[in-house]
Amino acid sequence: MKKLLISTVIAATAATGAFAQSPSDTAKARRAFYTLVGYEMASLGAMAQGKMDYDAEAASQSAKDLMTLAGLHTADYYVPGTSNADLPGETRAKPEIWSDMAGVQEKGMAFYEAVVALNEVAGNGLDALRPAVGQLGGTCKACHDDYRAKDF
Ligand code: HEC
Repeated sequence: MKKLLISTVIAATAATGAFAQSPSDTAKARRAFYTLVGYEMASLGAMAQGKMDYDAEAASQSAKDLMTLAGLHTADYYVPGTSNADLPGETRAKPEIWSDMAGVQEKGMAFYEAVVALNEVAGNGLDALRPAVGQLGGTCKACHDDYRAKDF
């Protein structure tokens, strides 16, 4: 299972081929994907920061949902021609993504590994959750710092 998902992540970075969707629709789907990732992360982050009571079941469910999201074939969302240079105002995805796919792949792998690690501990109490969420949050930031523009 783990191996299969990893190969999905790797395949996800080799975005080529024909797509029926318009560039704008692709950017929309990409942002929707990350909106869902952020949605799950929000409650995990709130628990880790003590802003929300720890709930083993809710934490496990969010971790599981992140695993599902991390397993999507995200190449579909990284079609060339969909950067913020191509679609100003519609996306914050920097052109650097398409000139440095190996770098994006590395950040994606770190994200994936952190989601796996989170799933191993999410239901085991707040002390176990906190560092795993911190680790995962670091992988979000690492990718955003390099590949997501601050503004539209
Ligand atoms: C491999 C790179 C990468 C990783 C890892 C990553 N992101 Fe992102 N994220 C992006 C990019 C690129 C965008 C910009 C998408 C766009 O505007 O088209 C983005 C956008 C977002 C957005 C804004 C969506 C919108 O409506 O425009 C949120 C929220 C977000 N990410 C949350 C997260 C969280 C939380 C994590 C970690 C749990 C994470 N991301 C991990 C690359 C990444």
